[in-house]
Amino acid sequence: MDFDRPVERRGTASYKWERYGPDVLPFWVADMDLPSPPAVVAALERRAAHGVYGYSNVPDSLVEALLEHLARSYGWHVTADAFVYLPGVVPALNLACRAFAGPGEAVLTVVPAYPPFLEAPRLQGRRLVTAAARLQDGRWRLPLAALEDAVTPDTRVLLFCHPHNPLGRVWDEAELAAVIDLCRRRDLVLVSDEIHCDLILDAVRHVPAAVAAPDAAARIVTLMAPSKTFNLPGLNFAFAVIADDELRRRFVAAGEGLLPFPGCFAIAASEAAYREGGEWLAELRAYLRGNADRVAAFVAASLPGVTTTRVEATYLAWLDARGWLAVHDGGPAAAARACLDAGVALSDGRAFGAEPGCLRLNFGCPRPQLDEGLRRLGRALGGAPG
Ligand SMILES: Cc1ncc(COP(=O)(O)O)c(C=O)c1O
Repeated sequence: MDFDRPVERRGTASYKWERYGPDVLPFWVADMDLPSPPAVVAALERRAAHGVYGYSNVPDSLVEALLEHLARSYGWHVTADAFVYLPGVVPALNLACRAFAGPGEAVLTVVPAYPPFLEAPRLQGRRLVTAAARLQDGRWRLPLAALEDAVTPDTRVLLFCHPHNPLGRVWDEAELAAVIDLCRRRDLVLVSDEIHCDLILDAVRHVPAAVAAPDAAARIVTLMAPSKTFNLPGLNFAFAVIADDELRRRFVAAGEGLLPFPGCFAIAASEAAYREGGEWLAELRAYLRGNADRVAAFVAASLPGVTTTRVEATYLAWLDARGWLAVHDGGPAAAARACLDAGVALSDGRAFGAEPGCLRLNFGCPRPQLDEGLRRLGRALGGAPG
């Protein structure tokens, strides 16, 4: 696959590309500027050519593709009745808050966090409690003691991101065991958002939380999707795996009447992706590893007031520009603003519950585009020592 080839996305109603003017290159919202696997494009063309786009049913062939994917990739053997089909993972985060915590009760998460983790509890009339991830020897760690301290008697849910957006960590088996132990002892439902699980860029293995603790199935909801993996977020398809009947019933009841059935294009594309996208995905991972290394090398060489950590998974790098911010006027938004002024849009870390001066950079794009973005980033933040 020629991932270096640029794809013009302006004029395609792209959320990412239409937010800023023509002079700004977008490195913010998490979709990739890379085409999906050829088998996906072919499946969509075939489906489009049919001409009738009625209500859909999730066919047995897609269910089989999902079951095979989980077994092949993660050694995870589930049954089809564990699946709940969804239009997205974000609706599922909101449903989980409603289903498993009562009004005013608390939902726990680790910060920095993908912003909907912070928004869902409030949107659903629940309370948010947080614990900040720890940086130890240059690697982000789960804040196990702080999580323990943050749990109140009315905390019901842990919204967990694995691998983690924005920190890029694939939590290891010891960390998973500790989190599951916490959920058991404090009687929390573990909602494990594993949407980035297929985008492992390092020689580490993704272990689903439910695989790490098969005997904790009664309290684990796993959320997955083909959308990040195969760059299909505009098709709106995700799924939950909930092995326990009662837990699944509560989750489904919270969404009754609110969620659309998966659409016919999502179904066609998802099945093709899981069945035929393996080779493309292997090439993508290698390409993203190259991009991640390029970002890290650039930050180390050219941005003296900025640090970053190794990205183990995802196509997102977390930049700590607090050193830059400390020697520049302009208030808490100054780093993100300086980037925009230089023609490059990153996500401001404040939306992730981080201190001012942190930024997230989406490197899921052709390398020439990344290089131009990094040049602009150098103009924005390269000036002063931290
Ligand atoms: C951790 C995480 N969960 C969920 C989503 C979005 O999921 P969806 O588009 O299926 O709602 C994202 C997108 O960036 C994400 O990073």
